[in-house]
Amino acid sequence: MTGELSPIDKAKFVAAKRACEYVEDGMRVGLGTGSTAAWMVRCLGEMVRQDGLKITGVPTSSRTADLARSVGIKVISLDEAKWLDVTIDGADEYDADLNLIKGGGGALLQEKIVATASDQMIVIADITKQVEALGAFPLPIEVIPFGWQTTKALVEETLISMDVLGRTSTLRLNQDTPFITDEGNYILDLHLHRIGNPRQLSLVLNQIPGIVENGLFIDICDAVVIGYGDGRVEVRDINAGTVESERIDFLDTDNLFSDMTD
Ligand code: A5P
Repeated sequence: MTGELSPIDKAKFVAAKRACEYVEDGMRVGLGTGSTAAWMVRCLGEMVRQDGLKITGVPTSSRTADLARSVGIKVISLDEAKWLDVTIDGADEYDADLNLIKGGGGALLQEKIVATASDQMIVIADITKQVEALGAFPLPIEVIPFGWQTTKALVEETLISMDVLGRTSTLRLNQDTPFITDEGNYILDLHLHRIGNPRQLSLVLNQIPGIVENGLFIDICDAVVIGYGDGRVEVRDINAGTVESERIDFLDTDNLFSDMTD
C-alpha cells in the first residue's frame, strides 16, 4: 500500500508512526484532526489491536472520534479524562519556536483545549508545514454566528494596528453555505501573509467579542516530528533543545490504510 502512496502521504505516515512512540500503556491520549492525524489514529489502532496497547483517546473532532472508534481505540470525553499524558496532532504551519497555525480542518477550538490540557503536545507534519514566519497559511478564527459580520468588521479594523502584511478575511464555506464547526460556530480565515508578532496577535484577537478562539498555538507544542517521503523522520524537541534523525521502515499497510478517507 505505501508503494502506491504519494511522497507527501508517506511523509505524513512516517511522522505519525514515529510520534506513536510517545504513547505508552495506560496513557490518556489527545487525538488530533486532519489527514496527518488520521494516520496517527490508524497507527494507534493497530498498536491496540495487534500489540494489546491499552490507552484511552480524547478526540478533537467528531470525525476523529468516529475514526478512533472504528479502529478500536476506546474514546472518552476530555471531562472524563480530566488531563492527558500526550496529544498528537497535525499543523498547518510551524515556526522555529514551534508556534503553530492550526484549524485548516476547522477543529481548532477542541484541538487547542485538548492540547492545552496535555502534559505534552507532539506535532506531526511534513516539511512543507515549516515556515520562517507564520501567516502564509490563512489564520482561522472560530466566531459565533450571532453578529458574525460585525465581528468580521471589528477583526479587520483591529488588524490595522497589528504587525501583519494582509488584513482581509473570508467566511469559510462548505459549498454555498457557511462551514459549521463541531461547536456550531463559523470560521473566518484571515489572510495575513506574514505575522510579525503571533503572541500579541493571539491575545488581541481573543479580546474581540464574538471570537471564540484563534488558530495560533503559542508555547503549546513541545516537539515536532517531521516526516519525509523517503522514510526519514526528524524529531525537534523544543524543551530539550535536541534534533534527532532516523529512518522508519514502511510496513505492509494494506489493511491499515486501505480505507483512508480523511
Ligand atoms: C484541523 O483543524 C487542523 O488543525 C489540522 O491539524 C491541520 O489543518 C493539519 O491538517 P493536515 O494534517 O490534513 O495537513
